[in-house]
Amino acid sequence: MNSPGKKVCFMTGASGILGSEIALSMAGQGYTIFFTWNSSEEKAVQILEKIRWISPQSEMIRCDVSKAGDIKNAFRAFSQQFDRLDLVIASASNFFSTPLSDVTEQEWDSLVNTNLKGTFFTMQAAVNIMQKQQFLSRIISISDIAADLVWRNFAPYTVSKAGIQHLTRVFAKTFAPRILVNSIAPGTITINPDKNMDPQEEMINNIPLKRPGNPLDIIRTILFLLESDYITGQIINVDGGRLLQ
Ligand SMILES: NC(=O)c1ccc[n+]([C@@H]2O[C@H](COP(=O)([O-])OP(=O)(O)OC[C@H]3O[C@@H](n4cnc5c(N)ncnc54)[C@H](OP(=O)(O)O)[C@@H]3O)[C@@H](O)[C@H]2O)c1
Repeated sequence: MNSPGKKVCFMTGASGILGSEIALSMAGQGYTIFFTWNSSEEKAVQILEKIRWISPQSEMIRCDVSKAGDIKNAFRAFSQQFDRLDLVIASASNFFSTPLSDVTEQEWDSLVNTNLKGTFFTMQAAVNIMQKQQFLSRIISISDIAADLVWRNFAPYTVSKAGIQHLTRVFAKTFAPRILVNSIAPGTITINPDKNMDPQEEMINNIPLKRPGNPLDIIRTILFLLESDYITGQIINVDGGRLLQ
């Protein structure tokens, strides 16, 4: 069991580019981190090592969030090791281009099951623990401003993120007042050359603040939500004004 009083954060997708920065910063905030990875074992091991310099009792587990059974197992393992759950950050996500007329069932399942179904069952498992606690706890889902944009080549992805935003409101209303549930919708934060199709210059021209975001922009928003106890069911766009276009 973790030491009494030390806050614990369960996070999915901490092996991601942005996800790993978030996990490290939460360790820096004094949380013990229990995080999931799926295919990036080497990266997960490196991140756990860094997190443990700051927060030695942190752990990780492999979990394919597109499978409800994997999420159940991860939370079972979590509960065997930790006796409190203060914060859940649902960040695991899949992202690739799917031109509308060619989307296959397999692509649909991969995107929607990882992003939407995975977030649903993560939040469900989380509230089942949090509801029994006597203190305020928080869930933060990571969605995407793409939920509000019409991207013809990314419909399964964008609909999965729009679904996460809706789930955020449903969970917030259902589990108030003890559990605060909010979503952060990043704009362009990290530019992954393998996945971003738009030329960088065009992408930046579409952002009124004329720069891509930085993981710190998302981390500051998480810290703001952690400070607040009167915000729930909200989607916070962190996008340099991109949605104003
Ligand atoms: N980075 C940005 O600019 C940006 C912009 C808008 C929204 N977002 C959102 O911000 C969040 C974090 O982004 P990121 O940059 O960290 O993304 P990323 O680098 O693409 O990482 C994705 C993460 O999701 C995990 N994942 C993928 N499929 C999974 C599955 N089936 N089961 C379990 N985990 C799975 C990956 O784990 P493995 O690698 O171990 O498989 C990895 O940890 C995501 O929700 C993303 O949609 C990011």
